[in-house]
Amino acid sequence: MEKVFQRTHQAYLVGPWAIMKLALLGYYVQIYTNILGKSKTINYVDLFAGPGVDQIKGTKFVIMGSPLLAQRAPRRNHFTNLALCELNNDYAQALRTILPGSRVIDKDINEEGLDQLQEFLNSHRGHSLVFADPEGLDLKFGTLIQIFGLTYCDVLINYQPTSLNRVLGQVAQNPRMADPLTSYFGTPAWKVGGDGDQLLELYCSQIKKFRDNVVAVKVQGTRLFHYYIILATRKIKREETEQEEWVKSFQRAKERVERVDSQTARSFLEIVTGSQTFFDFGES
Ligand SMILES: C[S@@+](CC[C@H](N)C(=O)[O-])C[C@H]1O[C@@H](n2cnc3c(N)ncnc32)[C@H](O)[C@@H]1O
Repeated sequence: MEKVFQRTHQAYLVGPWAIMKLALLGYYVQIYTNILGKSKTINYVDLFAGPGVDQIKGTKFVIMGSPLLAQRAPRRNHFTNLALCELNNDYAQALRTILPGSRVIDKDINEEGLDQLQEFLNSHRGHSLVFADPEGLDLKFGTLIQIFGLTYCDVLINYQPTSLNRVLGQVAQNPRMADPLTSYFGTPAWKVGGDGDQLLELYCSQIKKFRDNVVAVKVQGTRLFHYYIILATRKIKREETEQEEWVKSFQRAKERVERVDSQTARSFLEIVTGSQTFFDFGES
């Protein structure tokens, strides 16, 4: 990864717990491409792609970001196309350098970027795996609804209760902060009350209007920080047993990820980056 980073000098700063979302994405990419990639067109769509490389905060370690992972994780069948949306011009340029075969859309995914993505998907018809890893509340629910309608897709979304709590805390002083919340949930029903964790149910129920199966995996960061990766799939004309196996394997991943705490995530990372040779279960 170091060599890739040397080519662009662009990396997105993340905490060690980011490896868990990438692990889940990589795992699902493998299931998805194994089953759907046999004969059809399959697109990988990253709504908030970043520069392709992540750097662990406070260290020099660089790891694959979501677009590179999508390109490299498939074992048998690769994605036919990668569509990568990224608003930051330097990051978009970095993506063009390291993933020259992909379509990079350097516009706001809630505005012009969505129109460009629509054009792209209309000319690359098939199945799509959509990954939405926004910063906070950057993904409007209206955008998600349009994407559900655009393509036959499964969607993985990063839901961040901490960011929601920050905005919820501001609403009393600044009623204008209600607008981003309503855009995010696609309904004013969040006003009924609850914190970011309690509102996960509302968010999932909104998604359930468009997808048959919705599973949320909790990823523990620090003691005070965690996030959820939500998988939303629709029933399609697969063999029934295949569909069942597909959802079951994500459930198994959920059970495993939810047992991992932040210290274990950090240890995994230190092992894969070579800074720790042994897994120390006794770490405080
Ligand atoms: C959390 S990072 C994505 C990290 C990436 N998934 C990874 O694994 O490395 C979110 C990215 O979305 C970009 N972004 C923020 N708002 C956006 C928008 N409205 N449209 C497109 N990209 C946006 C940011 O510049 C940032 O690079």
